Amino acid sequence: MNNLSVIVGNSSVQLGTKFAKKCKANLVKSEVRVFPDGESKITLKGKISSKKTIVIQSVYPPVDTNLIQALSLVSKAKEFSKEVILVIPYMGYARQDREFLPGEIITMKVLAQMTKGVGASKIIVVDIHSKLGLKHFKTKTQNISAIPELVKYLKKLRLKDPLIISPDQGGKERAKLFAKEFGSEFLALEKKRDRKTGKVKIISKEVDVKNKDLILVDDMISTGGSIIHAAEFLKKQKARQIFVACTHGLLLNDAEKKIKSSGVKQIISTNSIPGKTSKVDISNIILEAITDA
Ligand code: R5P
Repeated sequence: MNNLSVIVGNSSVQLGTKFAKKCKANLVKSEVRVFPDGESKITLKGKISSKKTIVIQSVYPPVDTNLIQALSLVSKAKEFSKEVILVIPYMGYARQDREFLPGEIITMKVLAQMTKGVGASKIIVVDIHSKLGLKHFKTKTQNISAIPELVKYLKKLRLKDPLIISPDQGGKERAKLFAKEFGSEFLALEKKRDRKTGKVKIISKEVDVKNKDLILVDDMISTGGSIIHAAEFLKKQKARQIFVACTHGLLLNDAEKKIKSSGVKQIISTNSIPGKTSKVDISNIILEAITDA
């Protein structure tokens, strides 16, 4: 694309570089040094377009560091470019989209103010936790879905009598979409989370999953708690094999190991967060979104 530059942030090097090549943009690399006190010093290498710049930087842990880097990149790009689009493949803080308990701060509102303040003209995110989070933004936003890409990958596994499962009712629409794309049925379990301790439990009764291959679908896996409880429940109900497909594999601490021990055969996530399970590339869907923007 003419007169377009892509600034690749430190947290999205592999995805951002792929994306920049695909849209034939000027690649601007960011050299980052994080000081012992946690401050980030960023130096950009490359030519920033006067017309349009896309900044790509995921906000996974260290969340606050990656967030300030994203904001800094937009702020610098805005000094040169008329239009700056911020692509945040994984948007940290997306779960803080409402006041669950009195006094809680809706951090998504703060993010909306900050991204506007540094001059982003549009924010693009991938499979955001809930659309409510984006309602706090006054700038244009777009949520794109990695589900078709995840489905393409899962289809290659040739599963037996597959069924799509959401670990909770909140993910019902996601599972429905996944199932439609996959060409199978779906169901959503009932999960209860203690708002104070964060602990989860599955409160569904019996489900008909006997001898079926299951795909547990979620937007993100953080500690793995939701998936582990669901997998243990489904194993007790005599499921055959359980696969997990999620867009954002945070997989904190030893979540991956714990999920595997709960009976999950394979975890598949996207490169919104790079890691061992990030087998699905989302550069094409970001490219489509940018082309339409
Ligand atoms: C919750 O509603 C989300 O969709 C995920 O299921 C949840 O945030 C994953 O977190 P964890 O892996 O810690 O259970």
